[in-house]
Amino acid sequence: MFVTRRTFVGFGALAGAGYLGTSPRTWLGEPPLRASARSGDGVARHASVDGSLDVDLVAGDDWVDLAGERARLWSYNGQVPGPLLEMAPGDELRIHLVNQLDEPTNLHFHGLHVAPDGTADNIFREVAPGAVASYAFRVPEQHPAGLFWLHPHLHGSVARQVALGLAAPLIIRGALDAVPEVSAAREHVLVLQDFELDRSGRPVDPGMAALMGGREGALVTVSGQSRPRYAIQQEGALRLRFLNASASRFYRLSLEGHAMHLIATDGGSLATPQRVDEVLLAPGERRDALVLGSRENGVYRLMNLPYNRGAAGMMGGTLGTRTAFEIASVVYEGRAESPHQVPQALGEVERLSAARARRTFVLSETMGMVRGRGMGMRFLINGREFDHQRIDDRVRLGDVEEWEYINNTDMDHPMHVHTNPFQRVGADGEPEPAWLDGIVVRARRRERIRIRFADFVGATVQHCHILDHEDLGMMSTIQIEE
Ligand code: C2O
Ligand code: CU
Ligand code: CU
Repeated sequence: MFVTRRTFVGFGALAGAGYLGTSPRTWLGEPPLRASARSGDGVARHASVDGSLDVDLVAGDDWVDLAGERARLWSYNGQVPGPLLEMAPGDELRIHLVNQLDEPTNLHFHGLHVAPDGTADNIFREVAPGAVASYAFRVPEQHPAGLFWLHPHLHGSVARQVALGLAAPLIIRGALDAVPEVSAAREHVLVLQDFELDRSGRPVDPGMAALMGGREGALVTVSGQSRPRYAIQQEGALRLRFLNASASRFYRLSLEGHAMHLIATDGGSLATPQRVDEVLLAPGERRDALVLGSRENGVYRLMNLPYNRGAAGMMGGTLGTRTAFEIASVVYEGRAESPHQVPQALGEVERLSAARARRTFVLSETMGMVRGRGMGMRFLINGREFDHQRIDDRVRLGDVEEWEYINNTDMDHPMHVHTNPFQRVGADGEPEPAWLDGIVVRARRRERIRIRFADFVGATVQHCHILDHEDLGMMSTIQIEE
């Protein structure tokens, strides 16, 4: 029933979907998966049919097509990024994960509000080499529309497995997609990944210093391509859905000559579009933005601007992007039949009510052993390294809590919480009306969030989404109880 991984190689970019400068490639063999289709963003797409989506994901180590060249990466179904899954609230998802790697792996459904146990978003499972595991759950009826993603989450191996390419976007279609100005825009999913490859296309193992700061690769790809071009019509609109699927790299994005109109953050829609000149995406985060074709014809670059994310102790210099570089571009082509607009309103966004409890999480670092590499840095939450046998915090189902993160280190830590989205608490002490599942706690600074534990009990986690920091200890458990 499973087709060789090679069959999937070379889906490539497709014509008629907004790409220029890349020619359509030949489809090699029959589409082997159920409900399979091709999308305009260089990745295979699987959409649910009659309320369910059944997908085989083969995690393998093979040569794949990356930015027009061959690269020896780890991939789902022979593609980097993995296939785009598309569902609606209330749909059932069934994934057969086939582990063809020579080490264990598993799956995490980043940002989905589903159960943290059983065959759902259970990061404590381990899928042995050669094994097949089923992940099956139903997306709640009230689940917000948005862009989410899948990636491995086996403590100790997460950064490496993600950095080698294992990541796949997942879209929940819902109310936001029905807003007329949003559905009229041309949509693209931009999966941002970075790789460090040698000249033969093989991944280079990062050194110890790179792990301390969080590994970054020199090759930045957008949905598996190098500097793709997206067509926009005069008076038309683009919907750019950004996902940072890199292990540690931050992106600070700005489109030359154009404002972006943010319509959604990690966990779904904003109440009204927010006009911004740039978008910061820490690892794991998503942003959804409309761009209007209101400029003169031409090519406009989507730039990744400098961002200083701190310093890795005594071991390294400044982390992050030093010099701006282009990661994609938008090119004018044709004219829209009627002028597109940014919507006035997108929907209601509640603000989380007053907190029943408060907690503080201190982020710190220390020296310790790093598996297979000798002495190095370890990363701690409230003075402790991750231990999945230990319950660090117990919370009550239904409660709203306010959490403060205190960063006692010289580098940013983008904190991420599983299972339930949260809201950032502003300087005025009130939660901002935007759903997040990640928040950048800048070096030596603090951040506050408000979070509600809704619908699901069980053990879940929070961690730094610089995945090397997570693997080096910066993760803690949260037990949600009745
Ligand atoms: Cu995308 Cu626990 O992470
Ligand atoms: Cu997650
Ligand atoms: Cu960190």
